[in-house]
Amino acid sequence: MENLLEVKNLTTYFKLENKTIHAVDDVSFNIKKGEIVALIGESGSGKSVTAKSIMRIVPIPPGKIVNGKVIFEKEDLLQKKNKELRHIRGKDISMIYQEPMTSLNPMLKVGYQIKEVLKIHTNIKGSDAKEKAIELLRKVDIPEPEKRYNSYPYELSGGMRQRVMIAMALICNPKLLIADEPTTALDVTIQAEILELIKNLKSELNMSVLFITHDLGVVTNIADRIMVMYSGKIREISYTNELYKNPLHPYTVSLMKCIPRLNDPAKELYTIKGNVPDLEIKEKGCAFYPRCNRRMDKCIDNNPKLVEYKKGHFVRCWHYEEDSNDE
Ligand SMILES: Nc1ncnc2c1ncn2[C@@H]1O[C@H](COP(=O)(O)OP(=O)(O)OP(=O)(O)O)[C@@H](O)[C@H]1O
Ligand SMILES: [Mg+2]
Repeated sequence: MENLLEVKNLTTYFKLENKTIHAVDDVSFNIKKGEIVALIGESGSGKSVTAKSIMRIVPIPPGKIVNGKVIFEKEDLLQKKNKELRHIRGKDISMIYQEPMTSLNPMLKVGYQIKEVLKIHTNIKGSDAKEKAIELLRKVDIPEPEKRYNSYPYELSGGMRQRVMIAMALICNPKLLIADEPTTALDVTIQAEILELIKNLKSELNMSVLFITHDLGVVTNIADRIMVMYSGKIREISYTNELYKNPLHPYTVSLMKCIPRLNDPAKELYTIKGNVPDLEIKEKGCAFYPRCNRRMDKCIDNNPKLVEYKKGHFVRCWHYEEDSNDE
C-alpha cells in the first residue's frame, strides 16, 4: 500500500530565553492510504508538537522546525509557501482537537459555523449550503440534524460538539485526518461512540487517520498501527495486535500495565514511577533510563537507534539493538 504521509527526521525545538526545549527529536514514520495510526505517550512527550509540525502550525517563534521532511502525496510540506499550505490545511489535511468548545464559536449557531467553513473551502452557497450542513450533521450521527442546525454549541453535549467538529473537518473529504486527543474530555461511553464514528468514516471516505492519545486502552479497536513516543522520540512502532502480544520497549510494557482491566477491577491501577524527563536537556543516553526497570549502564550515555526487530516492529532500546539485523 502506498504511503500518504512520510515524516522524515522531523525535529522541532522551542527556543526560550534561557533554554531550548527539544519537543520533537528526529521523528520518522509513515502513514499509508486508508490506515489509522495511533501516536501515544504521556503528557509532554511531544505528540501535539509532532501534529502541529506536520500542519506547520507550530508558533514561530518560540518554535522552530529545525530539520526534517513532511512528504504528503510526494511533496514536502515544509518546503511549501504559506499560500500553498493554506489550500492543503482543512482541505487535504484536517485536524480535530481535544476540546471542541475552544474551536467552536459559542456565539454562533452550529449550522452557521459549518456554512462558514463551506464558504471558505467550497463554492456551495445559499440553500445548498444549508442542505449540505444538515447532511454533514447526519453523517456524523447527530440526531435530528435539522433541529441541531439551529443550536448554539452550549446547547449540545460534549460528545455532540465533538461530532460537529468532526463534521466540519470532513467538509472537503480530507485525505488525512489528524485527531489530537479528540475523546479525552468525554466520558467512556461517548469516547467509544466517537471512536466508532471515526473508524466508520475512515472506511467510508477512505481517509488516513493520525490518532493522538495518551491512553493506550483507547486505541486497541481503532488503530492499525501504534507508535509510542517518549520525551520527543519514537520508542516503538508496531502493528496493534503485535504490540499488544509482544511489547518490547520497557516504556511500552509499563504503559500496557496502566490499562485498567475490566475483568479484574479489584487490581490496583499501575502507574509508571518517576516523571517525564526535562526536555531542556538534549538526550544523550536513553531518556527512559531513570524510570526503566531493565536499565543497563550503557543506556546512560549512549542513545539506541530505532531498529526493525521484527518485520514491521521497530524499537529503540539497547536490549534489542544487538539482536536486530538493521543498519
Ligand atoms: N508554544 C510553546 N512554547 C514553548 N514550549 C512548548 C510550546 N508548545 C509545546 N511546548 C513544549 O513542548 C513539549 C511537548 O509538548 P506537546 O504539547 O507536544 O506534548 P503532548 O505529548 O501533546 O502532551 P499532552 O498529552 O499533554 O497533550 C512540552 O515540553 C511543552 O511544554
Ligand atoms: Mg497534546
